[in-house]
Amino acid sequence: MIELAPSILAADFSRLGEEVKMVERSGINLLHIDVMDGMFVPSISLGMPVILAMREQCNLLFDVHLMIEEPSRYIREFAKAGADIIGVHVEACRHLERTIMDIKECGKKACIVLNPATPLNALDYVLHEADAILLMTVNPGFGGQRFLPAMMEKIRHLKGILREKGLNIPIEVDGGIRLENVREVIEAGASRIVAGSSVFGVHTEQNIIEYMKIFQELEEG
Ligand code: DX5
Ligand code: ZN
Repeated sequence: MIELAPSILAADFSRLGEEVKMVERSGINLLHIDVMDGMFVPSISLGMPVILAMREQCNLLFDVHLMIEEPSRYIREFAKAGADIIGVHVEACRHLERTIMDIKECGKKACIVLNPATPLNALDYVLHEADAILLMTVNPGFGGQRFLPAMMEKIRHLKGILREKGLNIPIEVDGGIRLENVREVIEAGASRIVAGSSVFGVHTEQNIIEYMKIFQELEEG
């Protein structure tokens, strides 16, 4: 199954409630939420109160991408605020395996996130515990950046590793995904597609429809 996870970072923050409802009405199940602390990444975005407020507006599954130093400090709070999937960066966790276990103990799905320059072997001893792997396809911190072409090979490589190990977990991609490159990314092995600036804007609903058309074509073909 190929899924679209619109990234709320690109939405109109003055109309967040309406934006999440629009996503839900478009038949989407997932919402990607970027949390930034100004330390792990240069920018600061939003935190628990905003997630809680969105939680009250929709039933979308919340895919919370924590771009924060030592996320273990806040797992419980994000779970309580309404996260369904919690993504943590290997580069930000001192004890990654323990953090994954903390997420699971809260009854949430654990997603392991890798920066573009982080090699796939960082996953060697934790892969079997992940519910998803997120490969950053830009350096994290901002929306609207250009997809890093070297990431195409990384997606293919990870897909090969998962196949070899018989692991059926989604490869999520985040950053620089547009209607123009999404086919190639899916053909490389990604199945959970985060898209911010190519979804939200004046034509949000139409953009979602265009993405869904491509997904359907690829799934049928
Ligand atoms: C970047 C965030 C992304 C961002 C993607 O650090 O993790 O989720 O919103 O935005 P686009 O799709 O515009 O690259
Ligand atoms: Zn993200």
